[in-house]
Amino acid sequence: MPLTHTTDLFAKALKGKYALGAFNVNNMELIQAIVEACEEEKAPLMLQISKGARQYAHPTYLKKLIEAAVSLSTIPIAVHLDHGDTFELCKECIDEGFTSVMIDASHETFEKNVEICKKVVDYAHAHNCVVEGELGMLVGAQHDDGEEGGGYSKGGAYTHPDEAVAFVKASGVDSLAVAIGNSHGAYKFKGEQHLDLERLKAIKKALLDAGMGDYPLVLHGASSVPKDLADEINKYGGKMGTDTAGVPEADIEIARRVGCTKVNIDTDLRMAMTAAIRKVFAESPKEFDPRKYLGPARAKVKELVRHKVRDVLCCAGHAFD
Ligand code: G3H
Ligand code: 13P
Ligand code: ZN
Repeated sequence: MPLTHTTDLFAKALKGKYALGAFNVNNMELIQAIVEACEEEKAPLMLQISKGARQYAHPTYLKKLIEAAVSLSTIPIAVHLDHGDTFELCKECIDEGFTSVMIDASHETFEKNVEICKKVVDYAHAHNCVVEGELGMLVGAQHDDGEEGGGYSKGGAYTHPDEAVAFVKASGVDSLAVAIGNSHGAYKFKGEQHLDLERLKAIKKALLDAGMGDYPLVLHGASSVPKDLADEINKYGGKMGTDTAGVPEADIEIARRVGCTKVNIDTDLRMAMTAAIRKVFAESPKEFDPRKYLGPARAKVKELVRHKVRDVLCCAGHAFD
């Protein structure tokens, strides 16, 4: 089965009122774990690749690995560029056949953000690809030093509903990433914090009232940073701070109902993988066959993804709608 277009996945997700998991990948085990989990849960899937992932694995390796996964599965799979930072990178991915790209110019002024997005949109739309833009700035690691050290951003700027409408109209982006208290990484907030779900509702309504229909919104920084994974990492010699914090899964579940169509998850995958590998290293220090630790890591990621698609995003069972 070839790739499924992001537009088709979005249309079905909006109709079915579920969210798509957009999981970051950069190696074979992650791709296998995510695709197998979604295959077993009959969930439609978005695999996303960052600039860093392309640099780490090489674009051709990722492309071939995804081709293999697609040929061995029956579920619909779209491929998306995560946090594209230049027109050139977006163009490369569009030319390689990605079904959607994100151009992230959220750190620019409104006008500049529009201008950069529009250029990508014009090229993408002429080449059967769609574009995600971002308006507002996420708090936390994205704009701070020290993700690993647990730095907290004082900054960040929430997305304003009226500006969202103006931005979508002017740039022509096909989906919009919003800042509503979400944040990247494993140290998102100080203590427990919730998404501004009223703001999310207002953004959705403003777009609807402006004639943009049931417009797809995207939630970045949607890892929940499970405490049991942080504890397991630390139990087996890791040093994740006691101040790890994520978006509560209950908030994501509400965001899905309000109309977040794409939910980005990377950190939770990294934590699952790390916990499993550390466990093997700690319990079997003589082990040096990579399959003996990458295998359990793959199994742990798979278990996590099954939980996300079934219990949080509610896209399980919708692959063949
Ligand atoms: O939000 C960013 C993603 O987690 C990708 O991270 O740039 O380290 O690959 P990366
Ligand atoms: P997390 O760091 O919360 O997993 O967010 C990932 C993300 O937004 C990728 O674009
Ligand atoms: Zn992101």
